[in-house]
This record gives sequence, C-alpha cells and structure tokens, in this order.
Amino acid sequence: MTVLITGARGKVGQAVIARLRATGLTVRAASAAPARLTVPDGVETAELALDRPGPPEEYEAALRDVRQVFLYPQPAGIHELVKAAEAAGVEHVVLLSSSSVGSPDAETDPLASHSLEVERALADSDLTCTFLRPDAFASNALGWAWSIGRSEPVRLAYPDAHIAPIHPEDIADIAVEALTGDSLTGRTVTLTGAESLTFREQIAVLADAIGRPVPVEHITRAEAEQQMGAHMPAAMVGSLLDLWEAADHGPAAIADTTATLLGRPARTFRQWARENSAAFAGH
Ligand SMILES: NC(=O)c1ccc[n+]([C@@H]2O[C@H](COP(=O)([O-])OP(=O)(O)OC[C@H]3O[C@@H](n4cnc5c(N)ncnc54)[C@H](OP(=O)(O)O)[C@@H]3O)[C@@H](O)[C@H]2O)c1
Repeated sequence: MTVLITGARGKVGQAVIARLRATGLTVRAASAAPARLTVPDGVETAELALDRPGPPEEYEAALRDVRQVFLYPQPAGIHELVKAAEAAGVEHVVLLSSSSVGSPDAETDPLASHSLEVERALADSDLTCTFLRPDAFASNALGWAWSIGRSEPVRLAYPDAHIAPIHPEDIADIAVEALTGDSLTGRTVTLTGAESLTFREQIAVLADAIGRPVPVEHITRAEAEQQMGAHMPAAMVGSLLDLWEAADHGPAAIADTTATLLGRPARTFRQWARENSAAFAGH
C-alpha cells in the first residue's frame, strides 16, 4: 500500500512524509515542483500541481497503488483528483482543511471558500474522507521574521487579538494518526493549540526565545491594509483583519488538540519559538 502526500514541500506535508517513512510505509511525495523537493531516502516523488490541473496521466501516475491520500486544499484540480482517486481505488483521503470553513460566511470568505469547495467535492464523492480543520498555525509568526530580524517593531492593527496557535508538527501527528489508524476516519475535527495567546503575548515569547526585546507598534486598520496589501490580495487582507478584530475581545476557543485526539499534551508556542528562533535572527 502506498500513501500519497500532496503539497509535499509544505510544512505539514514535509512532517507527515518523515513520520510515515519512519514507520516503514511506502510513501509517494507529490509536488508542483518535485525537482525542488527534499525527501527522506526511499520516498518516491511525483509531479502534481493541485492548482493547475494537468493531463489525466499525471493523476494516474501519482495515484498508482495508492490507498491513502493526504491532501492540501486546492479547488482548481479537485474534480480531476477525485475522479482519478476513485478510479485508482483510493480508500481514504485526509484533507488539510481550515477552521474558517466552520464560519457562517464561509461561502463568501476568501480565507474559507477554497477549503469549503474542496470539502464539498470530496463529500460528494465515493471516497471516505477525514477533514482536519486547523486554526492558525504557530508558523504564521514567520510573517514577523523580516521586521524582528531588522530590529524593527512588529506593526499590528490588533495586537491584542487572541489566537490558539497550533504547532504544524501537531497537525502532522494528527494527520498520521488519521492516515494509519481508524480513530479519525470519516470525522471532521477542528484543531487548535492548547493555549490562547494574544499576538502581543506571542511576540513576547519570541523575544524571550531570541534573547532581546521586540517592540510592538499599534497601527490603524488602514495602515495594516496598506502593509499587508503588498503581499496578498485585498479581499484576503480584509478577511484576516475582520478575523483579528473579532478576536480582540477575549480568549480564543480551544477545540480539539493533540491532548483530546492523541492523548498527549499539545506542543506549545514557546516550543515552536525555541525551535525556530534562528529565523528571527536577521542576516
Ligand atoms: N497558515 C495557517 O494559519 C492555516 C490555517 C488553517 C489552514 N491552513 C491551510 O493549510 C495549508 C498550508 O498552509 P501554509 O500557509 O502553512 O503553507 P505551506 O504548507 O508552507 O505551503 C503550502 C503549499 O505551497 C506549495 N509551495 C510552493 N512553493 C513552496 C516553497 N517554496 N516552499 C514550500 N512550499 C511551497 C507547496 O506545495 P507543492 O510542493 O505542491 O508546491 C505547499 O504544500 C493551506 O492550504 C491553508 O489553507 C493554513
């Protein structure tokens, strides 16, 4: 039996590949750019650009002998992928979805709609599926690395927004449990970290990890729109700022964590900060 991991250069994909390979399973890593992939010895690679549907042969080659798929959400090629997976005899798809799919405006929210579309295509298929819906990743803090590395303040419109960041390796552990066991088969689980922290508190944890203070500058929403608009579409910026504005009033809800799903404590944001402190050192 082969397990296919799509989006294989991604943070969660990489961690899932390493864990599955260590268990001795046959693993195939599919990426839009397999030539740029780094995988453990013995892991096969395949080309699969989820956002640019390719010819049917590409799906057939990636899915040959595959029974389990770990899928990144990309609506562009989802119908081709579902068709090929059904034809190949895939038994179970574990989707890296998003907690935003559970929001009332998921159909129109650009953060949620692409994951929602993929969930729907899978739910309408003959495939057995597990939907993992993580909340914000701890690794989103890498977005502050540029400022922190230059000893500049982190400029935020909602510094006191509360988040329960989840360590990407906890998502990977839960994904591996879903792919190799049956406790999560067919379920939809919303995943968070175990503690609610404001952005300001996360930055204080990072400052501790790198051993120097990191100032936070409170900016207006309009300033944040301009700052974030340099890196992402305006609709996405608006959606993120709305989310943080709503999260400005109290602790984040804690949902399923590794403690409830795997019976061991979740990794903390402090642990993520220690492991990734070099990214904030500047050059
Ligand atoms: N970040 C969050 O807070 C969050 C929260 C909930 C859900 N999610 C979902 O989780 C997924 C992953 O999010 P992410 O932001 O952490 O992205 P990521 O895993 O770092 O990367 C996503 C994908 O981008 C492709 N990619 C292209 N160039 C790359 C490069 N140079 N290095 C690494 N990957 C590259 C990879 O697929 P190929 O190998 O095929 O190119 C990879 O799987 C998204 O679908 C998102 O909707 C994220």
